[in-house]
Amino acid sequence: MYLEYYGLSDFPFQLTPDHRFFFESATHRKAMANLIFGLNQSEGFIVITGEVGAGKTTLLGRLLDELDPDAFVANKIVSTHLQGDDMLRSVASAFAVPYQNLDKVSLLNGIEDFLVACHHQQKRVLLLVDEAQNVTPQGLEELRMLSNFQVANKVPLQSVLLAQPQFRRTLASADLEQFRQRIIASYHLGALTSSETRDYIKHRLSVVGWKDNPSFLDEAFDDIHRLTSGIPRKINTFCTRLMLFCFLDELSVVDRNVVKAVADDLVQEAGQLVPQGRGAGGGVMLSADALGEEIAEGDMPRRLRRLERMVDKHNRALHYLASFAEIAGEGLE
Ligand SMILES: Nc1ncnc2c1ncn2[C@@H]1O[C@H](COP(=O)(O)OP(=O)(O)O)[C@@H](O)[C@H]1O
Ligand SMILES: [Mg+2]
Repeated sequence: MYLEYYGLSDFPFQLTPDHRFFFESATHRKAMANLIFGLNQSEGFIVITGEVGAGKTTLLGRLLDELDPDAFVANKIVSTHLQGDDMLRSVASAFAVPYQNLDKVSLLNGIEDFLVACHHQQKRVLLLVDEAQNVTPQGLEELRMLSNFQVANKVPLQSVLLAQPQFRRTLASADLEQFRQRIIASYHLGALTSSETRDYIKHRLSVVGWKDNPSFLDEAFDDIHRLTSGIPRKINTFCTRLMLFCFLDELSVVDRNVVKAVADDLVQEAGQLVPQGRGAGGGVMLSADALGEEIAEGDMPRRLRRLERMVDKHNRALHYLASFAEIAGEGLE
């Protein structure tokens, strides 16, 4: 695969979280500063919103890595439409507090006993709620009640909520006034700028030993930024395809023609053109037109050469199979 061809030690654009690849953009830095500021307040809720793929879960992983395990007990729940009691059960389960077949009062008692025990061990409890846009107002209300619980005038539980942007609309509703008052820090994780997109791509490549092969022209970085709106997950998805394309074509330079060819392939596969800037889905939102300038000129011969090379590769593979079959004394049928 392309790893050997380009001398890379690992896939640079995988979607699985891997702290080796963490890139500190301005927006990620500010989000982290808000998290740390919020933690220093020792109470209430910290809310981080961001588009799908902006890096919220990655940020949370980063925070968990940096927390002092002697000072915090931190656990995460990923919410899927959690109602009131379900929320309490999830919180209990996250902290290994018994929750099965218990009524609400027993659940609450169990969680409160746990919080008291942590307080006595001089540990703070941090509840991390990922995909918090799925929590119902009733579930949020339960969280608020838990966050009011005090031991010796201290609030042992603090929560960080990570959510897609629509969560701000939920929070704005009149019923959640009391919840809003308990938010002590909030930040919207934005997209990467054009120059950050370039640095992000270079950073991920450098982590796996990239030696400027393939080398990217500035115009390619600009176009990748426009096509992906600077959302890390979309950049990763796009660049994975780009690397594969470069490998198949044996390319050592990525210019805007290459970027456009990959975008065209992806658009064709998706079977539709999605205008840039619309939709909130997590897929790569691409529009070949988004590249602005027409670069059809001169593109055709290049793509034909690529096809020829692919056919050539297939032929070589078939010859190899045929010779193998001969040696084995079998036909290919
Ligand atoms: N700051 C970052 N540094 C490195 N990779 C990042 C960063 N932010 C996001 N990513 C990458 O983008 C992808 C999506 O990030 P994720 O945290 O899952 O987004 P979200 O939770 O907001 O949907 C992941 O593959 C992750 O590796
Ligand atoms: Mg996430």
